[in-house]
Amino acid sequence: MTTVKSGGAPAGRVLVVGGYGAVGAVVTATLAAWFPGRVVPGGRDEVKARRLGGVRVDVADPEGFVQALDELGDVAVVVLCVEPPDAGIARTCLARGIHLVDIGATLRLLEAVADLHDVAVAAGATAVLSVGVAPGLTNLLARRAHEAVGGAEHLDITLLLGSGERHGGDAVRWTVEGLPEPVTARPRRTALPGYGTRTAHPFPFSDQHTLPRTLGVSEVTTRLCLDSRVLTAALFAARRTGLLRAARRPGVRRLMTGAFRRVHLGDDGFAIRAEARRGDRHATWSLTGRGQSRITGLVAAYVTRELLTGAPPAGVRHIEQLPDLTGLPETLAAEHGVVLHAPDLLDRSLGR
Ligand SMILES: NC(=O)c1ccc[n+]([C@@H]2O[C@H](COP(=O)([O-])OP(=O)(O)OC[C@H]3O[C@@H](n4cnc5c(N)ncnc54)[C@H](OP(=O)(O)O)[C@@H]3O)[C@@H](O)[C@H]2O)c1
Repeated sequence: MTTVKSGGAPAGRVLVVGGYGAVGAVVTATLAAWFPGRVVPGGRDEVKARRLGGVRVDVADPEGFVQALDELGDVAVVVLCVEPPDAGIARTCLARGIHLVDIGATLRLLEAVADLHDVAVAAGATAVLSVGVAPGLTNLLARRAHEAVGGAEHLDITLLLGSGERHGGDAVRWTVEGLPEPVTARPRRTALPGYGTRTAHPFPFSDQHTLPRTLGVSEVTTRLCLDSRVLTAALFAARRTGLLRAARRPGVRRLMTGAFRRVHLGDDGFAIRAEARRGDRHATWSLTGRGQSRITGLVAAYVTRELLTGAPPAGVRHIEQLPDLTGLPETLAAEHGVVLHAPDLLDRSLGR
């Protein structure tokens, strides 16, 4: 386990909201090892939270959240490991000068937090968005591929998820909500290291909407497939027929979330790939690993550590906008078993 130099690090605790969920538990455990006695997990289940040395917090209860912050008194960073209904919690944190790490993937919420940039700057706080695997590592690899071609005209991002992983309830709810969303891009066949060539389908991940702004690339598409070809085909065939539109209804969504959580066909491997194109030039970066919840939690922990020990610029940033986090894929490869695949560069105009 990495040790952290504490000299110069600001004092203050880290409140991990959703801190005993699939992702949050990893954030809590990793940060507690680096910053003993300074990590407080939070959630709605008071008994569970207190058993872990944490507190009861509910992101749907802004007054209760303020009260929890007041009672803790010295919170330096809030890590959001569950999606709040709006940007109210983010505003509360940033206005008080509390840094924020947000692992959410819903565009509407990320944009609402991005609108708080001036609030964060005025209070000297930093919010980091696009933290996790997708968005998160996809943003970092997309930036590399973009730079390798000298500024991409198109970026294609692919995520393969292991259907054998026990994904957290909130993550499955997010995926089910994304299924009936209208898409305009087409499915694409993509080679993924260790998985052969897969058909991946456009899916409403936030990275494809935020990267055009942060990188200046006009066309970005993110696609999803599962490790099981059969499940992928069945799921997206159902989307084409309009069957999944029923997932817009809360009752059906709850049923589908429960059903998806019980399906464990493959294993817990995942893969991401970012491919940039500019004229005849192509560049591809890929990464594979096990346990996307675990890796998401580790990304959030490293980002939080950077906020506690580094000198992040005040304001709201996406992960790929923070130069000190550029090497995170290499850190995860060296210390946590992910495999970063050598970039694949091709320049047809030069015949290579
Ligand atoms: N960026 C990425 O790559 C990435 C990857 C994976 C997941 N995610 C996102 O991360 C989030 C968490 O996913 P997960 O797999 O860890 O889900 P999870 O296992 O269901 O964990 C959610 C946690 O939040 C708590 N919680 C739920 N509602 C809450 C509320 N209103 N106020 C406070 N705490 C609440 C839950 O405990 P209680 O029910 O006891 O409150 C639980 O501890 C999801 O929104 C997902 O979309 C992002």
